[in-house]
Amino acid sequence: MAKWLTLVGILALMTLGFLAYVKLRTPPSLERAEVLAHTEKKTLAPLFPAPAFAFPDQRGVTVTTPSLVGKVWVANFIFTTCRTICPLLTAKMVQLQRSLKDVDVRFVSFSVDPEHDTPPVLAAYAQKWAPDERRWQLLSTDVKTLPTIAAGFHVTAEKNVPGEIDPIIHSSVFVLVDASGMVRGVFDSEHREDVKALERAVRTLVGTPAPPPEQGAPSGVELYHSLSCATCHEAPELAPALFGRAGSRVTFDNGLVATFDADYVKESMLAPDAKRAKGYPLRMPAFDQLSGEALLVLTKYVLETPAEAPMPTAEVPVEVDPVCHMKVRATADALAFEHQGHRFVFCSKHCLTRFAATPGVFLPEGPFIPTPTQDAGSP
Ligand code: HEC
Repeated sequence: MAKWLTLVGILALMTLGFLAYVKLRTPPSLERAEVLAHTEKKTLAPLFPAPAFAFPDQRGVTVTTPSLVGKVWVANFIFTTCRTICPLLTAKMVQLQRSLKDVDVRFVSFSVDPEHDTPPVLAAYAQKWAPDERRWQLLSTDVKTLPTIAAGFHVTAEKNVPGEIDPIIHSSVFVLVDASGMVRGVFDSEHREDVKALERAVRTLVGTPAPPPEQGAPSGVELYHSLSCATCHEAPELAPALFGRAGSRVTFDNGLVATFDADYVKESMLAPDAKRAKGYPLRMPAFDQLSGEALLVLTKYVLETPAEAPMPTAEVPVEVDPVCHMKVRATADALAFEHQGHRFVFCSKHCLTRFAATPGVFLPEGPFIPTPTQDAGSP
């Protein structure tokens, strides 16, 4: 009898172990939001109410569902240390912000990594991607309520199986919420047509028609920064550096080689998946909406800029990273953190994060030491 029980016990344990293994190895099935994005006709009919939440944003301001009433908003889900899909999602978010620059709309990015993405970390991320964007709120969520919020939006946000490059699996949809807090559309950020449809839908809900197309392309350096090329391509962990490579050889994922010339640079922008540079898990977004003139200007800029773009030193002050004491060029897009009215610049995200957590530890003796009288104002 006892033997028989042991056998049943062992069998039960083995079954449980097997089920746990299957659960861990099976990729999550298509989430409901993704199904909606693919099946829903984008008629802007009310779908479901956005879930209630209260989270601080990158400026420390608490954002709640009621605080967004009266505003049309676009939500997405990201985390700052993600190296595969989020830079792509954020590049698309920033492009959407730019194409809606004349529209009174809010952009809300929920972090799905509550343990790491504190408001200062999110502030540094926003500074890197869209330093001048006031309509973008990046929310620092918490471990307890994140699952409820994700469920409320019908999106996935869960830990990945150990050993995968990104520790969290999460949704890549954009959710459109109207001024009364009702979800009116779910859009697949990976489909260009969906992103275009989202842009039109926002304009419809807010009542701002599309402006006439702009005349004349901006300069190469302007395009390079405004299209987020710089944000990905100047972060070696995300994408290869592009400057000073004209005429050199490129090796692809499949072992083939090509020459880094005008055709190749143009093709990289129009159809980035056609030839994938070796060793990068991140996919580059397609820039096939660019005018022929803009493509030409950008290609020329990429090919003609030398590897170490010389900085006009007279205009760019050099400051010292307060954490590692390295000299850093304090350009507009330098990694920076605002503290007590002073903008500190950093050599790396690592230094910035350390500083943001405990600025007091790294402050130099002198003007930036917090003193009780500094903020006291007049009696
Ligand atoms: C979201 C991040 C991201 C953005 C934004 C981005 N890229 Fe890329 N790009 C990548 C990644 C990753 C690769 C390497 C993988 C591949 O070849 O697709 C790449 C590859 C390239 C290549 C081929 C480089 C090589 O070594 O073979 C060129 C050229 C290029 N990008 C140009 C641009 C330009 C110009 C822009 C702006 C209009 C831009 N990229 C914006 C991520 C990005």
